Amino acid sequence: MTEKARLLNIPDAGRNLSHAPMLSSVRRLRHQPLKPVVLRVDSLQKRYGEIDAVAGVSFDVREGEVFGLLGPNGAGKTTAISILATERAPSGGDAKVLDHSIREEPKLVRRMIGIAPQDTAIYPMLTAAENLRFFGRIYGVSKAVLESRIGELLRLVGLERRSDDYAGTFSGGMKRRLNLAAALVHSPRLLLLDEATAGVDLQSREYIFEVVRRLRDAGTAILYTTHYMEEAQGLCDRLGFMNHGKLVAMGTLDALLANLECREIIELRGLPPGTDFATLQAAGEVSRVERTDGMVRLFVRSATSLLEPLQKIISRSRQPVHLKIAPLSGCLGLPGRSGLGRRSARIHARHAGASARYRW
Ligand SMILES: Nc1ncnc2c1ncn2[C@@H]1O[C@H](COP(=O)(O)OP(=O)(O)OP(=O)(O)O)[C@@H](O)[C@H]1O
Ligand SMILES: [Mg+2]
Repeated sequence: MTEKARLLNIPDAGRNLSHAPMLSSVRRLRHQPLKPVVLRVDSLQKRYGEIDAVAGVSFDVREGEVFGLLGPNGAGKTTAISILATERAPSGGDAKVLDHSIREEPKLVRRMIGIAPQDTAIYPMLTAAENLRFFGRIYGVSKAVLESRIGELLRLVGLERRSDDYAGTFSGGMKRRLNLAAALVHSPRLLLLDEATAGVDLQSREYIFEVVRRLRDAGTAILYTTHYMEEAQGLCDRLGFMNHGKLVAMGTLDALLANLECREIIELRGLPPGTDFATLQAAGEVSRVERTDGMVRLFVRSATSLLEPLQKIISRSRQPVHLKIAPLSGCLGLPGRSGLGRRSARIHARHAGASARYRW
């Protein structure tokens, strides 16, 4: 590692990335002793009027770990990241960066965090180098260190030849790369990347992925939000899925998929109270039965194998029953791997006066 790279907290920061390998989609399981926690998020909340944008979220990110935060539009990802970056005040809970509270020590925390926001925060009327100089001064980086760091960072994100061009003339992907470089001027221990690759070309995406991997390998803790499952798959050590402000699933990709792949939820409306599902449960296919407000939810491994016994139960009820089947991920509102969303084929069945509509 060069001295500059060490200062930047990036291995081989000056290496030209134009021949960097394409992002591998192979899942990476790194069996290493647990590294120290850099970010600890504890019951974080943010309320906007009636909206619980972040509704009690807790998770940790360790040194050298990429934690992916996934979720649909409006899930609360940006709100959570902005609170962690001390840009918005939480309504409840707290988060600590290396044991320093975002509530009690926001100035100190800000110096340890780099953020590349979803809406790029660069100045179009400044050149690439001037942008980095500006952010470096804000973060209190000394002039001498800053000047060498600017060159290294521009090289890292593949903009070294555009150093003196105005950022306003950059393509979307180039702006995102500069946005990322600006988040790194002060060698943060924790990097917050909000939709770092939104709307960028393939080449810029590869640069960004490669930079993230290098930072991770150098020990930076990274919180990475994305809509794209395939990105998370290639880049993240652990994932958290947010929906309606809550963290609805968390773990390594393999653990999450093992849980999700075979799990479906059958929702039944219209069955008489007290309907017995003992025959289904006896078959060992139903892991949980939930009854709320006239709705029964069966958490099952495979709904298809239960259609026949279910049909018997529905027929016995002698009243219209509405039945819906969804993969667990669909119910959680997770972005889909292929086939993980709600599917829409329908079957209508009539038996002894009872009708059921299957939707999956
Ligand atoms: N300043 C605000 N005032 C009121 N409501 C807000 C504000 N900021 C966010 N919200 C609301 O909080 C919720 C979460 O928004 P947020 O931007 O955090 O979602 P997101 O997961 O980042 O979505 P996306 O994937 O579209 O970027 C949304 O319902 C949004 O309308
Ligand atoms: Mg967002």
